[in-house]
Amino acid sequence: MTGVEVKVEGLTKSFGRANIWSDVSLTLPPGEVSVLLGPSGTGKSVFLKTLIGLLKPEQGSIVIDGVDLVRCSEAELYEVRKLFGVLFQDGALFGSMNLVDNIAFPLREHTRKSETQIRDIVAEKMEMVGLQGAEGKLPGEISGGMRKRAGLARALVLDPQIVLFDEPDSGLDPVRTAYLNQLIIDLNAQTDATFLIVTHDINSAQTVPDNIGLLYRKHLAMFGPREVLLSSDEPVVAQFLNGRREGPIGMSEEKDAAQAAREMEEAGELEGLPPMKPQLAASPGMPDRAAVHRRRERVDAMLHELPPAAQRAIRESRGEGEQGSAWGPVSDGSTREVARESGYPGDTADTDDRPTDIHPRITDDTPAPPGRHQLSDDDR
Ligand SMILES: Nc1ncnc2c1ncn2[C@@H]1O[C@H](COP(=O)(O)OP(=O)(O)OP(=O)(O)O)[C@@H](O)[C@H]1O
Ligand SMILES: [Mg+2]
Repeated sequence: MTGVEVKVEGLTKSFGRANIWSDVSLTLPPGEVSVLLGPSGTGKSVFLKTLIGLLKPEQGSIVIDGVDLVRCSEAELYEVRKLFGVLFQDGALFGSMNLVDNIAFPLREHTRKSETQIRDIVAEKMEMVGLQGAEGKLPGEISGGMRKRAGLARALVLDPQIVLFDEPDSGLDPVRTAYLNQLIIDLNAQTDATFLIVTHDINSAQTVPDNIGLLYRKHLAMFGPREVLLSSDEPVVAQFLNGRREGPIGMSEEKDAAQAAREMEEAGELEGLPPMKPQLAASPGMPDRAAVHRRRERVDAMLHELPPAAQRAIRESRGEGEQGSAWGPVSDGSTREVARESGYPGDTADTDDRPTDIHPRITDDTPAPPGRHQLSDDDR
């Protein structure tokens, strides 16, 4: 299975007289991981819902597999929707169904598979996200992180070619977020599906995606290879990446230009961009990410058009500068370091009691550790 391209052109969405965003154009390259950033309320969730045809834009087109979702028939839309898996912002699980029934739901709704087949698929996806043992639990009986992973298993159950994640990391602690990020990269390596992730987590935005976009002031301010945004000298980018108050973004989304300029003057010389972090690679034992190879060719073709800082960053990441390997993204090993140093995040509460037990195990609220979620029970 290979992910499909999603081509968005000139998209405009309003609710009544309130315009949310206008003239949004971007292409999600097949099988690549893209992140969408933007201040709260800029319409990122609205964008995801528009992509799957839940909301109708007033203008523009969304072309997937040759079908324009904005203009197609209900029957065509129904077919195209089967390509999608969606992890909603709140997980959106049915409270009265246990995890197996929740995860099996799309299979029972959209396929004619037998109960035996459904059981096998659900078990496979639950293992992928490290939820074995929680089959009979109700959503109310598990932690927020487990609910996220159950939502993720449900999003994957129809083997989607496009997966949309709305803040998969919100409400998770930093260690679990690191495991979730590794899980996302590993899933991408295994499925080669096209991923779009909305996140507020700057570390995730720096280390997970191939491409980054920024929704700001009712427009898509930029979208392109990760290095472009991560090395951009736009004040709004620096403000976002540094998470600071001074800059064009205010509490109610945006400040007027005069106030922003006054603040910038008062703040004096502001810190620049944080140093660029290497992109996560798939865990050992995972297939190579096919998208990395395709992306290299794609980025090569546009390299000369990119800003000089982005070109430098891309060369460096390829080992043509001072750091990085000769081939695509480099794993910084940070999540693996966590696993090696502290055992497993689910174990943290009682690590003191078991100082010698460093064997990673999947317990309560623990995302599958890198490279381990495919292992059989015998390995644990
Ligand atoms: N169904 C709807 N009807 C009317 N207005 C809506 C609807 N859905 C969203 N909005 C409005 O659209 C705007 C963007 O909302 P959205 O949820 O997409 O923001 P967001 O960027 O996802 O924010 P956050 O980062 O806080 O999740 C908000 O002002 C919201 O009130
Ligand atoms: Mg949202």
